[in-house]
Amino acid sequence: MSTNVAAASEVRWHPFADGGALRADARRRVIDSAARAIDERRRFVIVLAGGSTPRALYRSLRDADTDWTRWHVYFGDERCVAADDAERNSVMAAETLLDHVPIPPAQRHAIPAELGADAAARRYSDALRDVGEFDVVLLGLGEDGHAASLFPGQVAPAESDVVAVFDAPKPPPERVSLSAARLSRTRAALFLIEGESKRDAVRRWRAGVDIPASTIRPRSGVDVLLDASLLE
Ligand code: 6PG
Repeated sequence: MSTNVAAASEVRWHPFADGGALRADARRRVIDSAARAIDERRRFVIVLAGGSTPRALYRSLRDADTDWTRWHVYFGDERCVAADDAERNSVMAAETLLDHVPIPPAQRHAIPAELGADAAARRYSDALRDVGEFDVVLLGLGEDGHAASLFPGQVAPAESDVVAVFDAPKPPPERVSLSAARLSRTRAALFLIEGESKRDAVRRWRAGVDIPASTIRPRSGVDVLLDASLLE
């Protein structure tokens, strides 16, 4: 089942009857991508999603059979709160996965959002300059169709890789986000969507309505792993 959102990018929908099967498939995709990337390029570059949906997937990755020393971890977005604030996506990722596996600290690239959105966006844009194409970008979907911290009605400067957000409708209002263009520079993009609250955003996406999530258009397309009930 696929919907061509744009000529260069396909959306492949993968419904799952239960969250466990969805997470198992996502885990397999991430581990397989890591094995291919490490085999071909000696490094695996992954962009982690924030929010709550990915927590169980991250925990399930702790016992993955992979060379963690070859993992390079970035974030799709971050909230502008203190670096140790429980609301941080970097804190969530550390608690569920990164503090439990031997990824070298220098290869864990948190967005320095505690500096404020403008300064952090500049710093992270510099950090990404030589990174090239990601191997996997993980994303969630907001109730309003947002992805990362790209919200409806917000126009990001087209040429930016990383954008400062000041009026996010999902608290906190100040955030930093990779742009749709930068999130699209990836060999694979994986959306994880669970929860009744996402029904309308899924419906609009599938109806071809332009939502921020649908502006993420990698050449290889997008795989959407979702709760099957959201398609009913
Ligand atoms: C954030 C996330 C955000 C999230 C969606 C879905 O910082 O809030 O990056 O884009 O992925 O809002 O959130 P849930 O997974 O909690 O539903």
